[in-house]
Amino acid sequence: MKQLDLSADALLTTTRAVRKRLDLERPIDRTVVEECLRVALQAPNGSNRQTWNWVVVDDASTRAAMADIWRGGAADLGAAAASAATPARPPGERQPEIMESVSWLNQHLHEVPVLVVATVDGRPEGASMFTQATMWGSVLPAVWSFMLALRSRALGSCWTTVHLEREREMAELLGIPFADVTQAGMFPVAYTIGTDFKPGAREASADTIRWNRW
Ligand SMILES: Cc1cc2nc3c(=O)[nH]c(=O)nc-3n(C[C@H](O)[C@H](O)[C@H](O)COP(=O)(O)O)c2cc1C
Repeated sequence: MKQLDLSADALLTTTRAVRKRLDLERPIDRTVVEECLRVALQAPNGSNRQTWNWVVVDDASTRAAMADIWRGGAADLGAAAASAATPARPPGERQPEIMESVSWLNQHLHEVPVLVVATVDGRPEGASMFTQATMWGSVLPAVWSFMLALRSRALGSCWTTVHLEREREMAELLGIPFADVTQAGMFPVAYTIGTDFKPGAREASADTIRWNRW
């Protein structure tokens, strides 16, 4: 498939969390998603064991059921946040804008043409730090590569984790063996409305880079 003319740095700095600019009307050929996943599978992973799997859903009724579980997870998190004494970190300036965009996705998730759940073999509960780091590190780089491959083909996604509050329900719906396999997130996929995206707001790198010592 034809790709956008973007330098590596432009691709890396303009691959955004896309919500309101997901095109809910334009269908996606399965081969495009498969091509992006083929690219993603070149990502680094522990001992090259390739313990990832990708549940790619384009069936409308399954997407609707997934969206319901996702909304349930979001509601659980909303309730927990409302009763928490103080937020873990103060929200940034763009928080109202992000929340509006999150709320849009909440309403429209079932309409997004493809939903992808990324998984990794094993369970992190009670595992050593080494095992946990290896698990997450064996799937999350591939997820990001997938998002980059989508962007270079005029599609987009948004990293989401809220449904993990209800991971077991999603496992039951999709037939994922919960005892042996962990879900890393759900990634709504669609063509984007327009392809001009800008670098996002970030802390100045000088504030986060610490040479030689913390
Ligand atoms: C680990 C992780 C979890 C996230 N979970 C959600 C989520 O559940 N729902 C959502 O709408 N966005 C989620 N996001 C997207 C972030 O909100 C987004 O990346 C951030 O606001 C920065 O925006 P940008 O990627 O466009 O620069 C998540 C991102 C990451 C990396």
